[in-house]
Amino acid sequence: RLLIIDFGSQVTQLIARRLRELNVYCEIHPYQKVTDDSLKAFDPKAIIFSGGPDSVMREGSPRPPKAAYEMGVPILGICYGQQVMMHDLGGRVEAGEHATAEFGRAYVTPTDKQADFLNGWFMDASGREQVWMSHGDHVAEIAPGFEVYGTSPGAPFAITADLARNFYAVQFHPEVHHTPNGATLYENFVKLAGFKGDWTMGAYREEMIAKIREQVGDKKVICALSGGVDSSVTGILLHEAIGDQLTCVFVDHGLLRLNEAEQVVAMFRDNYNLNLIHADESDLFLGELEGVSDPETKRKIIGKLFIDVFQKYADQIEGAEFLAQGTLYPDVIESVSFSGGPSVTIKSHHNVGGLPEKMGLKLVEPLRELFKDEVRTLGHELGLPASFIGRHPFPGPGLAIRCPGEITREKLEILRKADAVYIDQIRKHGLYDEIWQAFAAILPMRTVGVMGDGRTYDFAVALRAVTSVDGMTADYYPFTHEFLGETSTRIINEVKGVNRVFYDCTSKPPGTIELE
Ligand code: XMP
Repeated sequence: RLLIIDFGSQVTQLIARRLRELNVYCEIHPYQKVTDDSLKAFDPKAIIFSGGPDSVMREGSPRPPKAAYEMGVPILGICYGQQVMMHDLGGRVEAGEHATAEFGRAYVTPTDKQADFLNGWFMDASGREQVWMSHGDHVAEIAPGFEVYGTSPGAPFAITADLARNFYAVQFHPEVHHTPNGATLYENFVKLAGFKGDWTMGAYREEMIAKIREQVGDKKVICALSGGVDSSVTGILLHEAIGDQLTCVFVDHGLLRLNEAEQVVAMFRDNYNLNLIHADESDLFLGELEGVSDPETKRKIIGKLFIDVFQKYADQIEGAEFLAQGTLYPDVIESVSFSGGPSVTIKSHHNVGGLPEKMGLKLVEPLRELFKDEVRTLGHELGLPASFIGRHPFPGPGLAIRCPGEITREKLEILRKADAVYIDQIRKHGLYDEIWQAFAAILPMRTVGVMGDGRTYDFAVALRAVTSVDGMTADYYPFTHEFLGETSTRIINEVKGVNRVFYDCTSKPPGTIELE
C-alpha cells in the first residue's frame, strides 16, 4: 500500500483518485499524524508528499518525518512536497516573488536526460507537456543526487529525480485535470514502486468497514435514508459494519413516485434486514404545503419539516451518538478554480445540513472520499440491484417541484401515474441509461379536449428528459416523433384526468432541469 502524506493541498484527494483508478490502494494521512513510528508501522511500499499552502521557509511549517527518507521506498513530492523534499535533503527553496510565482497552465519541456518515470511524456509533435502550476515559492537549488528532467519558463526544476534513491519531485500538480497526461506519471511511479494494480472496490469496502467499527465502537448510529444511491450505500455499508447499532429513518413526505416508498422499505427490510423506521409523515407535509404555490416557500417548508421530523424520530433512538451521511467528495470540494490558484468553496450536504450540530451528533461519512461512479461500483459490491443503482437522480423536495403552483393530492396522484407510464415507455425503448434524468410534471392549468363524444376539461402534463454530465448544464433529449406520439397517446389513455401532453425542449441554461 501507498501512503499519501497530506500537507493541506485542496487537491490531495485527487491523488488518491488517480491511484485508485490504477487499482493501487492508498491512504491519505494528515502530516500532523505521521511520525517516524507510525510510518514504520504503516510500512508503505511508496510515499507521496502532497502539495500544500504553506512555505517551507516559514519556521514551524509542515515536514514529513525523517524516517520517510530512510525506508528505502520510492517517494514522489508534489509542489510543496517537492520543496520540502529539496529543503530536507540539502537543496534550497526561495520565497515567492511575483516574478517567480506561477499559477495556472504552463508547459514543461524535457532536458536531455531519460528516466522511466517519464515514459509516455513529451511524445507528441510539440515535445512539451501541459501542466498545472500553483506555487508561490520555488526550488532555487536542487538537493545533491538529484537531476533535472523537465523545465518550464517559471520552474527551472519542474521535474527532478534522484534515480538511485527512487525519489521524484515535481513542481506542478499531475493529479489535476489540467495536467492532461498526469495520470501517466502516477502510473510510472507506482510501477517503479512495484505495485501490481490489483486493488479493488471490494478491498475498499473491507477497509471502510474496519474504519467505521473503529470510529463508532459500540455506540449507536442513525442514518437518514432517502432511497437515493448515496444514502442507500451509506446505510448498507454501516449495516455491514455495525449491524443493529444502526437505525435508519426513511422520511416519507408524501411526495415520492408511484409505489416508491413501499419499494424502498421492502428492499431494505427484506433484503438487508436493516433496522428501518418508515416515518410516514405525508399528512404533515401535504398539510403544511396546502395553498402554497411559491417554489422557494415550498422548498423551505419541506426542508424545515424534514429536519423536524428526522429529529423527532432520532430522539426516540436512545443513546445515538453518530449521524451517518452519504457525503461525497464533490460535496466536500465543490469547485476548484484553476485560474487564480486553488480557491475552494465548501458546500455542506443539503439533506440534513445543520442537524449534527443541533443534535450534538458526530458524523460518520464513509463515502467522503468517493466520486459518484465509485459509489455506484461500491453499491454493486454491496449487492444493490443494478436497476436501483442506475436510477435517475430524484430531488429532495420530490414531486413538489414537479407540480408547479398549488399541490393537491389529486394532482399528485395524476402526476405519479403519468410519470410511471412515461418511464415505462423510456425503459421499453431502451433509452433509460442514455438519459440523465427524465420525469413528468403536471402543469397548473386545465385544457379542453374531446374524448369519445364528450368534451373534457383536464390537466396537461409536461414531459422532461435531459442529457447531462453533472446536472449543472443539460440538453433536452431528442426523442423521435414516434416515441413522443406513442407516449402521449398512452398517457392520455391510461391516466384519467390528463387530456394533453407537452414535451419540454428547453436546455439548461436557460431552463433548469426541474420545473421549480
Ligand atoms: P436544477 O433543477 O437545479 O436541478 O437544474 C439540477 C439537479 O439537481 C436536482 N435537484 C435537487 N436535488 N435537492 C436535491 O437533492 C433539491 O432541492 C434539488 N433541486 C434540484 C435535480 O433533480 C437535478 O438532478
